[in-house]
Amino acid sequence: MSIQKVSTRPFKDQRPGTSGLRKKVTTFQQPYYLENFVQSIFDVIGEIKGKTIVLGGDGRFYNREALQIIIKMAAANGIGRTMVGLGGILSTPAASCVIRKHGLLGGIILSASHNPGGPKGDFGVKYNIENGGPSPEHVTECIYKRSLEIDTYRFFDAPDVDLDQLGENRIGEMVVEVFDPVADYLQLMERLFDFDRMRGLLSSGEFNMVYDGMNAVTGPYARAIFERRLGAPPGTVINGDPLLDFGGIHPDPNLKHARELVEIMRSENSPDFGAASDGDGDRNMILGRRFFVTPSDSLAVLAANADLVPGYSGGLSGLARSMPTSMAVDRVAESMGIPCYETPTGWKFFGNLLDAGKVTLCGEESFGTGSDHIREKDGLWAVLFWLNLLAVKGESVERIVQAHWRKFGRDFYSRHDYEGLEADSANGLMSHLRDSLPGLVEKRLGNYEVEIADNFSYTDPIDGSLSTGQGIRIIFRGASRIVFRLSGTGTEGATLRVYLERYETDLERQDQDTQEALSDLITIANNIAQIRARTGREAPSVIT
Ligand code: G1P
Ligand code: ZN
Repeated sequence: MSIQKVSTRPFKDQRPGTSGLRKKVTTFQQPYYLENFVQSIFDVIGEIKGKTIVLGGDGRFYNREALQIIIKMAAANGIGRTMVGLGGILSTPAASCVIRKHGLLGGIILSASHNPGGPKGDFGVKYNIENGGPSPEHVTECIYKRSLEIDTYRFFDAPDVDLDQLGENRIGEMVVEVFDPVADYLQLMERLFDFDRMRGLLSSGEFNMVYDGMNAVTGPYARAIFERRLGAPPGTVINGDPLLDFGGIHPDPNLKHARELVEIMRSENSPDFGAASDGDGDRNMILGRRFFVTPSDSLAVLAANADLVPGYSGGLSGLARSMPTSMAVDRVAESMGIPCYETPTGWKFFGNLLDAGKVTLCGEESFGTGSDHIREKDGLWAVLFWLNLLAVKGESVERIVQAHWRKFGRDFYSRHDYEGLEADSANGLMSHLRDSLPGLVEKRLGNYEVEIADNFSYTDPIDGSLSTGQGIRIIFRGASRIVFRLSGTGTEGATLRVYLERYETDLERQDQDTQEALSDLITIANNIAQIRARTGREAPSVIT
């Protein structure tokens, strides 16, 4: 057993995004690839000697192998203590919780979120800092720069740690603590939500729920919380074992990929409540009987009813949504007399607002919802929030949402994704749109009159930083909108996202089918962006 300094040479493609470094498993399996990136992290995050970090991942293929490498590198780099989730399991929200609760230096999360897993799938490494949130851009830039010049990494040559046994181990000077990845997270949830009330509902025999772990990280959490702690019958959690390849599915909780859950909730004897999370546990989907709650509505409903939940009954300081998320939550903020911030896409933009105490709840249309309890979005938190509301209100999911629409109006909302486009045609489409913005203002398009047409930019109210070019917004009088942007997270080709929103206060017209209600806007979007002509696509690849 000894510390080794291993010579290496830089790779040129290790620039992490806010969701970390995400690549094919085969890329990470190249000799030195993972080692270089991890050493680059250790080299730039400041004083690490004697400090504690947390490690874990979503259980995907290569999780365990990568953990063993990182543990031995941590020991060789002088880290004092490494906490590792039992079985190598740690959800993204639980990592954020553990870092904050124990005042850790940070944590390394192994996940490629909702991207497919397995030997041919994706893998990812993400470093979260001491506030529990993802590394900010200045940190990821330092990691990247370091990765371009790295020539050695440190490795402790020692036997593998048994990750399936709770307790402490030692590698050289470093303690490796294999800990229960659920305990701290469950305790935090118990502080926020009324567990007695939820237990009452789930054991009443009159209420059924189903939770889809999508063969990914949240299964163990959901079983501990819903089945063991809250008394829901065994089997309430489906697909609850984290599998190396997620059972071949895309662990993304939406109407397309959570097919099994969607079918159960559409069936004749559907349970009252259905929910799912993604690969690493930060996304959520909420379903009632034959009823889908859009993530934008979900955020608005949670905010409007937050006083019914113990952790939020003291009031909300403010709300925030990403720009493409529907404006439903803005109206809730207005009615409460609190601010609502509109940020660019990506959870990182909420971080400063949360740290400054300006925002209590926030969310994105992309199935991400969260609060100031941690610095990541949190799938199970959203599910528990809904369950708490259902227990207090004693009404169905559908009734709660419909009552919300009656009070605030309904935002018909849908996102149309065109995936795997050629980069040139996608960029051409966006530049054509940008050029046509000035001509659109005040223009009448069918029944809609354009009020604002711009390319969204954002000045962070805390640190003053400016982010430009964050998506094309066409806002019509009467608060309907079309938003266009290109995905920043895809790994193959370009993805065009078209976000459609129509605000409707007429009660008679609130129960139309969403795509029908949006059909005029869909046509307008196609015309102004020339989607068919420029992409050759007749229809979107995914509609959510
Ligand atoms: C997508 C979502 C965005 C989310 C991000 C990470 O990014 O749209 O809301 O924050 O994944 O989960 P995009 O691919 O659109 O850039
Ligand atoms: Zn995720």
